Amino acid sequence: MRNVELKARDPDPARTLELARALGARDEGEITQRDTYFGGSRVRVKLREQTPGDDELIAYRRPDEDEARVSEYLRVAVPDAAALKEALDAAYGTNVVVAKKRRLLLWENVRIHLDEVEGLGSYMELEGLVEGDDAGAARQRVERLRAELEIDDANLVSGSYSDLLLDTPAALLEAARAVMTHAHVPYSHFPVGAALRGAGGGIHVGANVENPAYPQSQCAEASAIGNMIAAGETRITAIAVVAQNVEVCPPCGGCRQRLSEFAGPDTPVHMGTQTTTLGALLPESFGVAELRG
Ligand code: THU
Repeated sequence: MRNVELKARDPDPARTLELARALGARDEGEITQRDTYFGGSRVRVKLREQTPGDDELIAYRRPDEDEARVSEYLRVAVPDAAALKEALDAAYGTNVVVAKKRRLLLWENVRIHLDEVEGLGSYMELEGLVEGDDAGAARQRVERLRAELEIDDANLVSGSYSDLLLDTPAALLEAARAVMTHAHVPYSHFPVGAALRGAGGGIHVGANVENPAYPQSQCAEASAIGNMIAAGETRITAIAVVAQNVEVCPPCGGCRQRLSEFAGPDTPVHMGTQTTTLGALLPESFGVAELRG
């Protein structure tokens, strides 16, 4: 199954509801949903428990873009959600739980979600069902609704609710600090830990690994990138780097370049007590655009 999707913060849900109803959208009422996201997987996997409605496991893949995007998903009915949740948690660990109240409206094969998300606030989503191979018609319907519901570009959101909830600097810094204690640093005595938030929601960590042949040593960021790739993830949404001996540890020049392969200029870099962006650390960088000319 495929959808064209759009997500935005909603500063005035009551007005959005009014506009949607005025367009003739059918009001399906309110659903209480609790989505549990699991780690260790290549696609996003969440167990959805809901009232009213049946519990289901949803596996999906979608690009993290602000604009309307195509998402592929698979839904599996779950007769015993509590047991499955326990099994998946034991096997892969739980990344985050997203609890929300969803007002569902339907308009011409587009689902309109007016969501109150615990810990995040008011959001709205448009999900246009793609019929057949061509996403064009669904895209047009979503774009029309986007205009009619007066969704401001500034309010568009690219990440999922799980990403938004997970993306606290504290969680990443804590993961970086924890892995720093495993650094192999008999020569510099300068332990470093790095933690990368993958677009799938998982955290990938690494520590520096030194060698008596000094150039064979590896920075913490490079170790973390290796772990991220091994987990099947190729997009970084946030970075944390900490060192035991300094309060602020800016990534070395080589690691800025390494990180830029998987992160964008706006990606936050938490360096101990200070935060900046990868773009600020590596302006006018060399990338694939330059390589291709
Ligand atoms: N180091 C890192 O792990 N990441 C950086 O960005 C800066 C430097 C490590 C390399 C070496 O093991 C130690 O810190 C001292 O240079």
